[in-house]
Amino acid sequence: MKLVFLGPPGAGKGTQAEVIGRALNIPHISTGDMFRKAMREGTPTGLKAKAYIDQGQLVPDSVTIDMVKERLSEDDCKNGYLLDGFPRDVHQAEALAGFSQLDAAVNIAVADEKLIARLSGRRFCPKCSGTFHISALADAKVCPNCGGELVQRQDDNPATIANRLNVYHTQTSPVTAFYAQKGILKEVDGDQPMEGVTAAILKALAVNL
Ligand code: AP5
Repeated sequence: MKLVFLGPPGAGKGTQAEVIGRALNIPHISTGDMFRKAMREGTPTGLKAKAYIDQGQLVPDSVTIDMVKERLSEDDCKNGYLLDGFPRDVHQAEALAGFSQLDAAVNIAVADEKLIARLSGRRFCPKCSGTFHISALADAKVCPNCGGELVQRQDDNPATIANRLNVYHTQTSPVTAFYAQKGILKEVDGDQPMEGVTAAILKALAVNL
């Protein structure tokens, strides 16, 4: 199955993509994770992306589209994939349609007030890539999965969160209309417990596990 997960920052795209990707046995491809890895490694792509990500702006399409095209051409994507964070504007959606045909686009909807609380409390484990919220952690500094040290993403500060939400509403939300027109948009309520969101996505995709 070839899928994209849409939704504002903090809607739970990454959280759900981990679970659904494993359940459907398809790779979870997050452009945000690809950029953060490139930044940690100091590659040319990482150096280009950093200035945009730190400001909460989109990395230019000239960098992003080729990176995704190359990733989707790898062997593990032959039977499907789950894209998280791409496409992020209509130009990227049109480009994707030029090199791959999607089965569905899942839009995970959550109101802005809830997103700010989720993003401000998010913690990430660089060792095992786990994502958590401080409200569910006994110790906000220690990864409950592997014992690694939890960190806060650099773009999860109030000013950058505000920019990311603004960019989402102006540039990314029109992508849902693009897929609605193609008849492949699935709307899911992301404002419910994580297990409920997973069940709603599987139902929208008509998948019985
Ligand atoms: P990216 O990494 O894609 O960030 P994002 O879209 O802002 O999304 P997030 O990762 O912040 O949120 P999420 O929806 O995955 O939520 P999560 O599951 O973590 O992109 C970062 C930057 O990279 C962009 O700003 C841009 O600069 C650049 N970029 C990336 N792709 C690009 C592209 N295609 N083009 C150009 N630039 C690009 O959950 C959030 C929190 O909520 C967690 O703490 C989690 O535990 C909690 N949570 C999750 N689900 C629930 C629930 N149901 N109830 C309660 N809490 C929940």
